Parts: sequence; C-alpha cells; structure tokens
Amino acid sequence: MQFSVTANRQRAFLAAVLVGLAMLSYFLHRTEIKVTFFGSHSESCIKQLAQTEEAFCHSFTGDRIGQRDQSALCTVWAQQRRKKQEMEDILTKLDQQMPSITFRDVKTTTSAKNSKATLLSHKDSYCVGDHLIVRLDLYDHLGKRKRYGGDFLRARVYSPGLKAGASGQVEDYKNGTYLVNFTLFWEGDVRVSILLIHPSEGVSAMWAARKKGYEKIAFTGKFLNGTSEVFTECGFNITTKEELCEYLDERDQEAFYCVKPKHVPCDAFIHLKSNNRPMSYLTPLEKSLFNRSNIGVEIPQTFGNIRVLSCNTLKFIDCHRAGLFKTHLVMDPERNTFVQWKKHGHPFVTKEFYSIKDDHYVPRAIDRVAGGESTAVVLTLGQHFRPFPMNIFVRRLLNVREAIQRLHLRSPGTRVIVKAENIREIYIDPERLGDVHGYPQNLVTRNIFRGLNIGFIDAWDMTTAYATNDVHPHNHVVWSQIVMLLTYIC
Ligand SMILES: *[C@@H]1O[C@H](CO)[C@@H](O)[C@H](O)[C@H]1NC(C)=O
Ligand SMILES: *[C@@H]1O[C@H](CO)[C@@H](O)[C@H](O)[C@H]1NC(C)=O
Ligand SMILES: *[C@@H]1O[C@H](CO)[C@@H](O)[C@H](O)[C@H]1NC(C)=O
Ligand SMILES: *[C@@H]1O[C@H](CO)[C@@H](O)[C@H](O)[C@H]1NC(C)=O
Ligand SMILES: *[C@@H]1O[C@H](CO)[C@@H](O)[C@H](O)[C@H]1NC(C)=O
Repeated sequence: MQFSVTANRQRAFLAAVLVGLAMLSYFLHRTEIKVTFFGSHSESCIKQLAQTEEAFCHSFTGDRIGQRDQSALCTVWAQQRRKKQEMEDILTKLDQQMPSITFRDVKTTTSAKNSKATLLSHKDSYCVGDHLIVRLDLYDHLGKRKRYGGDFLRARVYSPGLKAGASGQVEDYKNGTYLVNFTLFWEGDVRVSILLIHPSEGVSAMWAARKKGYEKIAFTGKFLNGTSEVFTECGFNITTKEELCEYLDERDQEAFYCVKPKHVPCDAFIHLKSNNRPMSYLTPLEKSLFNRSNIGVEIPQTFGNIRVLSCNTLKFIDCHRAGLFKTHLVMDPERNTFVQWKKHGHPFVTKEFYSIKDDHYVPRAIDRVAGGESTAVVLTLGQHFRPFPMNIFVRRLLNVREAIQRLHLRSPGTRVIVKAENIREIYIDPERLGDVHGYPQNLVTRNIFRGLNIGFIDAWDMTTAYATNDVHPHNHVVWSQIVMLLTYIC
C-alpha cells in the first residue's frame, strides 16, 4: 500500500488510514484508538484523535524502509488537521458570542432615542480613581423594552478642554439591560457619551450576511501575454466553468484563484486590483437598519457633566513647631499610610531659626527606623553641604552607608531610595552654592552608594535634561521624580 499525501487528497488518505487501521488493529496494544476513531466528537476526543492518528501514521510508515518522506508528511497532515480544528473552534465560539435574531419589523429593533441611560449611585462629585457606573435600559421604536442583548455600543468619558478620554467597559446582561463601567482617570468636568452603533438585529443580520460569500469585492488580475496585457477575474472563490489558475501556499493552506486567460501561463500573473461590487447579502429590511440616521445614535441621558476631584485623602498633621523647616507629616488612616519629611542634621543653611531638637544626623535617624516590608526610607543630601569642605560631605555619606547596611541587617525588606541633588540657578553665588560644588558631590554620592541594595533617583540628570536651573525644580519635574520613586516602592 502506498501513502502519498497531498492537501487535496486528505480524504483518500484518511480512508487509506482507516483501512490500514482496521488491518493493523490486531497488532496494536492501544485498542482505544479504534474507539476514538469512531467515537464521539467532543473537543478532547478530536484532539486525541489527531495525535493518535499522527502517532499511528508514524508507526506505520516507520516500519517501512525509505519512507522518511512519508513520515514528514504525517506530521504536516496532523498539524493541518489541528489548525483546521482550532479554526472551527474559534468560529463556533464567535457564533455563540454574536447575536442571532430574526425580525420582521424595523419598529421592533433597538431605538437609541427611546432608550435610557441612568447613573447608578449618583454623587455630587467623584474622586480620581472612582468608577462611574451607568445602567442602560434599551427600548425598541414602539417604546417596548428589549428582552435580549447583543447591541453594538460604544461608551466613553471625555473632557474636551483637556483633550482627555477613556472608554467604558460594557457588560451585556442579555436581557436589554447593560452596565457600563467607567474609570475616572483625571480631575475636572467629565462628559459621558454612549452611542448605539447598531441595534442587535443589525449586528445579527450582518454576522449572518458575512458568511454568505465572497462577492462584495471584485478582483481584477493582470496577466502579461508577451507584450500585451490580459485582464481576468480573480478571488478566493470563483464560480465558473472556465479553467482556473490556483495560487496555493501548501504549508499554510492559503489559496487565491484567477480565471486562466487562454494560452497564457498562470505564472504570467503580475498585478491585481479590486473594486466594490454594488451588491449586498442583506435583505432590504435588514439594510434599512444601516441607514445613516440609524448609525451611532446617542442614547439620551439627563445627568450632564460629572465633577471629578483629586480628593487628597492624605491629611496634613500640624506638629506645632516653629518655622518652615519643621517636620512635615501627612497621614491616611484608611490606607494606613504615613509620610514624614525631616531635615537632615548639620549643616542646614537658612536665614530662619529652626529647632535643633527634632532632627538628627541622617545615620542616627536611620538607626531609629524599625523597618519592614511596608517601610521606605528616602534620603537626599547635597545642597546644604556645598559651602563647606568636601570632607564633611564624604564623612556623612560614609556614615549613611553604614547606617543603611545596619538597617538591611535587621530589616532586609526596607526600601531605601537615594535622591541625587539637582542642578540649580546658573548665576547663583558660585563659590558658595554653585553646581561646580554639586558636581563632585554627585560623583562621590554615586561612588559611595554603589553596590548597595537601594533605588537611585538621578535628579542631577533629570534636571539637566529639563534645564530647570532652579534649586526647587518645577512641579512637573518633581512629579517625574515621584513617579520614579513610586516605581521603586510599589
Ligand atoms: C437584566 O438582568 C440584570 C441582572 O440580573 C437585572 O439587574 C436587570 O434588572 C434585568 N433587566 C430586565 C429588563 O429584566
Ligand atoms: C468596575 O470595574 C472595576 C475594575 O475595572 C471593578 O473593580 C468594579 O467592581 C467594577 N464595578 C462594577 C459595578 O462592575
Ligand atoms: C465557493 O463558494 C460556494 C458557494 O458560496 C461554495 O459552495 C464553495 O464551497 C466555495 N468554495 C471554496 C473553495 O470555498
Ligand atoms: C496571448 O497571445 C497569443 C499570441 O499573441 C494569442 O494567440 C492569445 O489569444 C493571447 N491570449 C489572450 C488571452 O489574449
Ligand atoms: C431608511 O430606512 C427606512 C426604514 O426604516 C426606509 O424607509 C428609508 O427608505 C431608508 N432611507 C434610506 C436613505 O435608505
């Protein structure tokens, strides 16, 4: 028996395998092969079937001398079968997801104008990060409630002034009710838009029509016949009695066809173009659903603009100390969050009096941190050291490094982040405060902290890039630094 497999001869091959199987089943230990062959067609069974067939095909051809090619074909054949099966599974699943509805009267299809959008749990204002839930109740043109889903909806929130927008997640309860879940990502006045792109009846009609054929597009192929050009019809599926040129990708099972021009070889096919054929697979009734006036109609709503606030839940706590440079504290008791800012110990250069009792050298402050997975220590040293000899700065950094090492010994989970100093005003008193002193400090900071398990925010680099030239950089630059900090912490 000879096994020659080509894509076109799969059926013959299958028959041959079946015959072979019947003959050889006597020799096979795994008698269930026979069961799976003729048994049920459940998904797992079919997968097993393809694998078993492949194994069988191999075992059979393997017995034969000089049949290595056949063995490779076995594998190709099994791969193609599996791909075909996966394709069918995907299409079957899509079929289940798309609506399947018949209707006789356009008046019984979904009407955007008659439908209602209601804001659930309405509030005067919302916080950034809140979810806005809108319930849709759909009605037909007669004012009767829809009892099934499948409508094609498009939902978004937007703020034209900010050029901001976000889509909403639509949940279809399959009974004429939908829930749209928006996330409020930004602060300001936000509008809601919910469009009925097509009623479910239109979606259903379109899905069915799409399966009906290949006729919507007319391909015209150009062949070269010597020095003249010949034009013929091409496409995926041509119904004709004339001879066809088949352009087949055997491996991937892709095929395209052209009517073969008389006395011109198929290889002389050089160019292709297409035109839309004035035809439709929809009935006139179905087509009327796709009138322009019926597409993308806004579902009316009464709730207008939504106010979204940033809602700092973090609260400031006044520590009742003198001056600007006191300890600053913010707290969020709901999320158990506590943020504290402290100045570092000597030198702190300012014309204002400040308490010398609250704050300590940074290494001492680190030594007081119990630490843990939910603790982060962020430190920056630099600007206030610029007027003094470098030995002060270097000694402090070495002490800080030892304190970090001690902290990690008792609490390896504590995050430590070092922020470099930033550049500042170019014309500031250079001998006292200039970046010319900041630069070697920046070098030394990188050197001393190298190799420690810490995060590093390169503020020197960032402010150089932004050219901020300000000892207190602008908010958007600080924001970039905070974003980097949060990526180390979260
Ligand atoms: C559809 O189902 C949802 C969820 O069960 C329910 O809240 C809603 O009221 C139902 N709508 C109709 C029209 O029965
Ligand atoms: C809205 O979506 C968010 C996640 O994106 C989810 O946590 C929340 O439960 C949803 N709300 C409703 C009412 O479905
Ligand atoms: C071409 O289309 C006809 C009718 O739509 C169909 O019966 C036939 O199986 C199709 N052939 C191919 C190769 O898809
Ligand atoms: C191609 O050219 C040959 C020779 O010039 C001619 O006989 C034939 O009819 C042409 N074929 C077509 C389809 O024009
Ligand atoms: C739009 O649809 C209606 C039926 O709903 C139909 O009577 C009318 O002719 C259509 N208009 C166009 C421009 O197709």
